Amino acid sequence: MVFFSAFKALLSRRDKRTSNASSLKSKKKGLSHSNGNQQHNNNKYAATNSPVTSTTNSSSHNGHSFQFKDGRRYHSDSDVAYVLPNDDDEADRVHQQHWILRYALQSNYQAPVTDLLEKGITVLDSGCGPATWTFEMGEAWPNSTFHGIDASCVFPENIKPANVEFVIGNIAKQIPYPDNTFDYIHQRLLLLGLTNEDWDNALKELYRVLKPGGYIELAEPDLQDLENMGPTLKKLQYTMSDMLISRNMPTKVACEIEDRLIKAGFVNTNLKMTPLKLNHTDKAGKLLWDDYKHGYMNMRPVMAQMVPEWQDPEVYECFVTACGVEAEKNRANVNWYAYYAQKPAQ
Ligand SMILES: C[S@@+](CC[C@H](N)C(=O)[O-])C[C@H]1O[C@@H](n2cnc3c(N)ncnc32)[C@H](O)[C@@H]1O
Repeated sequence: MVFFSAFKALLSRRDKRTSNASSLKSKKKGLSHSNGNQQHNNNKYAATNSPVTSTTNSSSHNGHSFQFKDGRRYHSDSDVAYVLPNDDDEADRVHQQHWILRYALQSNYQAPVTDLLEKGITVLDSGCGPATWTFEMGEAWPNSTFHGIDASCVFPENIKPANVEFVIGNIAKQIPYPDNTFDYIHQRLLLLGLTNEDWDNALKELYRVLKPGGYIELAEPDLQDLENMGPTLKKLQYTMSDMLISRNMPTKVACEIEDRLIKAGFVNTNLKMTPLKLNHTDKAGKLLWDDYKHGYMNMRPVMAQMVPEWQDPEVYECFVTACGVEAEKNRANVNWYAYYAQKPAQ
């Protein structure tokens, strides 16, 4: 119940932030599903994902530039490897994903920072996206100050708590803050955004801006090797790995983060691994599957570069739907890795 009230509260908050009717429509669809209506609109994704070969153009919005491909909006920074769109539909998905994760993990963070947050510290949310985590943390901890950074302007620029600020930046190039600024850095779900080299550079930058003794927390799912995959889900996951390899991005970064943190100079590493149910057992499993499917549908243009028949949205959606059926039958789990570590105290 708490989960759904929070979810509805988010809806009304987003309602105030955007007048985009289509975005609200899709959010309400999600809510009616979460209230028990299991019917899927088969045209939901087909309407927004047309073949990769159609038009590309660019434009600017409030001084920020974007590029458009096949009716979807993307970042326009050639140095950023991120493969997902940054439009309202994707922002809605990421908002919803936040509530699902918080419900499944029963927490917004793992690092031992509760007393520090209460006292008042400076926090960075790296790759904050539409900033659901940043907002919620800002509201929960009014003595602390929260800074969100993202390559795209997908965060709210005007209506926000007084203790929350945002900047646009590529975390793999330069984080626009002085050395030793933050007491706590949080980063989640960048696996589709950073090449191998970007991970090294981003961790160097995050180390630089973290205060000595400060905490860093990085959370990612292992999307290559799910527990209890059947052949259909395995094809989907391993095709995604091939897509990532073709872009020089790591396929199992969730399992590599400890080594990468140590290489960057962090100490006192901790890991909490949680299996998340995919489309089985309870509401959280069903909601996670809805988000998973939505994410894969939004990724179709890059997945179709690996499997040409997936350029047809209906063929692709049919395949992804079959993965959901298999996940439910086999009781598949996605392993969620949450690490925290410290910059050595001087
Ligand atoms: C899946 S979203 C996750 C958002 C947020 N961390 C959350 O968990 O709700 C990934 C975000 O990372 C951002 N991103 C990807 N590559 C980036 C980069 N090199 N620098 C900054 N942000 C980046 C994307 O623009 C996107 O908003």
